[in-house]
Amino acid sequence: MEQSQHNSEKHYDLIILGASGFTGKYVIREALKFLNTPSSPLKTIALAGRNPAKLVESLKWASHPATPPSLPIIRADVSDPSSLRDLCTKTKLILNCIGPFRLYGEPVFSACVEAGCDYLDICGEPEFMEKMEAIYHEKAVEKGSLVVSACGFDSIPAELGLMFNSRQWVSPAAPNSVEAYLSLESDKRISRPKRPRPVIAGPPPSKGPMVEHQKAIGLWAVKLPSADSTVVRRTLSALTENPHGLPGVDENDGQIERRKNFWSTVKPAHFGVKIRSKSLLGIIRFIIFGLFLGLFGSTAFGRWLLLKYPSIFSLGWFRKQGPTEEEVRSASFKMWFIGHGYSGANLASQLGNRKPDTEIITRVMGPEVGYLTTPIILLQCAIVLLSGRGNLPKGGVLPPGIVFGPTDLQERLQQNGITFDIISKNVLSA
Ligand SMILES: NC(=O)c1ccc[n+]([C@@H]2O[C@H](COP(=O)([O-])OP(=O)(O)OC[C@H]3O[C@@H](n4cnc5c(N)ncnc54)[C@H](OP(=O)(O)O)[C@@H]3O)[C@@H](O)[C@H]2O)c1
Repeated sequence: MEQSQHNSEKHYDLIILGASGFTGKYVIREALKFLNTPSSPLKTIALAGRNPAKLVESLKWASHPATPPSLPIIRADVSDPSSLRDLCTKTKLILNCIGPFRLYGEPVFSACVEAGCDYLDICGEPEFMEKMEAIYHEKAVEKGSLVVSACGFDSIPAELGLMFNSRQWVSPAAPNSVEAYLSLESDKRISRPKRPRPVIAGPPPSKGPMVEHQKAIGLWAVKLPSADSTVVRRTLSALTENPHGLPGVDENDGQIERRKNFWSTVKPAHFGVKIRSKSLLGIIRFIIFGLFLGLFGSTAFGRWLLLKYPSIFSLGWFRKQGPTEEEVRSASFKMWFIGHGYSGANLASQLGNRKPDTEIITRVMGPEVGYLTTPIILLQCAIVLLSGRGNLPKGGVLPPGIVFGPTDLQERLQQNGITFDIISKNVLSA
């Protein structure tokens, strides 16, 4: 197979790019757990970034209290395309942790796609991801470069969490809407290609109140546009165009069967994301932060103020220096998926104002989102890719759900501390 011949000439299984960043050093720590362990495909890793001394410090931090392994350190700067091209010739896969992506992301995309190198990142910027798909998808298909953004807390819990909820609806039951409680957002508009819409049982759900008291899970919530909704929409749209999912570059019959079976159990639903809080006060705090972002984010001086005084404008949520290790360890997340739908296909097709008669609640739970959950997810995506490249599409700029949905990613995440639970299945009174 062309891809594997090509890959056998590569020096490294993966390169962590931007390994000196706050998230990058946690990604190193997670990668070291799987380096040269039995059954891990991860035999060789290199670290890359613009400051080799900082990369060495990050490796020390990530290895502590053990002696750091001697990993190759490669100088690479996003403003120097030849340094990025050089990385792509040396590795099967790049894990990109350099952000913000709208400022620094495109040169890395471009270098990977040109070289036919595989690429995963932890981007949470929906507008950037859609732009990269529009520019690089065709070329990535042609070159055999599999490029998947949002392989972190954005947006794998949302993607796999929605699929997990939708797979609990045993036919003829079908979900109509699934609301997840958590989010991130982008407010700028770009021109997007028209996408096919999935067929969903029943009418679109009403928009509902801006602030909601969700009794089922005892939380207050406010709706926000988020990377998760955009990424999920891209996956559902890819599924509508390819009802059996995307064929792998070198699948055997068993894998083809597994992929088709998996996608036949996923039922599309309207999907939205809300941020939740235990108290109304928490929600008001979030709204005020959102207002500051909207107000100041539109001017250069406003953005300077936000970056200079993040703690003041986020009412204590964000600080320049990032959280301490203790804070990271003590944090966790819960993402509830509340699905409303119909117990029978005939109920959904009666439409009119027919209300859903069934509710299924599921939950995804894990450790702190940015520095623990994100590296866990990124590394497990990398391991799935490296150990079964033939099961995945030859190339393309694709959302994570359509690529990793039928793989064992969910099981791997569960083995690494991210849980998927069914909370309840209820009949709703008319
Ligand atoms: N999806 C998620 O849930 C999730 C979670 C966590 C983080 N993220 C995203 O990941 C990104 C990184 O976050 P972070 O907190 O780790 O930020 P950070 O601490 O500021 O790290 C940024 C990294 O980018 C590198 N960099 C900046 N300019 C560069 C250039 N010209 N050439 C090469 N490298 C360059 C920095 O190198 P130096 O060390 O040399 O400055 C550093 O390694 C952000 O976009 C963030 O939003 C997403």
